[in-house]
Amino acid sequence: MAAQIYPSILSADFARLAEEAKAVEGADWLHVDVMDNHFVPNLTLGMPIVESLSRATDIPLDLHLMIEDPDRWAPQYVEAGAGSVTFHAEAAAAPVRLAREIRAKGARASMALKPATPIEQYEDILPELDMLLIMTVEPGFGGQPFLDIMLPKIRRTRELIAKHGLELWLQVDGGVSASTIERCAEAGADVFVAGSAVYGAVEPAAAVRTLREQAGA
Ligand code: DX5
Ligand code: ZN
Repeated sequence: MAAQIYPSILSADFARLAEEAKAVEGADWLHVDVMDNHFVPNLTLGMPIVESLSRATDIPLDLHLMIEDPDRWAPQYVEAGAGSVTFHAEAAAAPVRLAREIRAKGARASMALKPATPIEQYEDILPELDMLLIMTVEPGFGGQPFLDIMLPKIRRTRELIAKHGLELWLQVDGGVSASTIERCAEAGADVFVAGSAVYGAVEPAAAVRTLREQAGA
């Protein structure tokens, strides 16, 4: 699959979300970080804003739920307008049931792993997922430096996907920029979340194009 760039609105101006979505027209998906101040030490936005944003943009929404009890909330985010919902492996009580529920409601199901969570214990449930997110920072904040120590995990995950012949997309999130995206792509990632590298740029839409070219090279 061709490389896809997902701008993260965590680095956008929350008072102007509709305009900020327009500023990245041409992006494949829009990454929306939901934080509950429990799973991570930060608080962002919830259901009403996701509903409004999904009406305000044609770009499909990729929800990254950094929340406790995703089993309860994730399906509701599909109803709020998400095209893809990512829950954290560390927070989900029943990831297989949850992924099936998300898919049954019509969205792509995705699971995220924090840096210290190994991929190996999830090998058997990979066929239940449409995407796997490997965090390349500790989740909670934008603008953190990329963790190079995650590159072997990206590589191992790509090997598992190939071994099982899966269509799974492999997403990386955290510190992805012009200076790190090539390493991620080389390791096997094909979906790239970028917050500060896109919204910190003078021309966010141009930053998306440049990142996509770098990832595809
Ligand atoms: C961090 C979030 C990321 C964040 C990435 O916990 O999950 O999506 O927006 O921001 P950058 O690209 O600036 O590291
Ligand atoms: Zn995220």
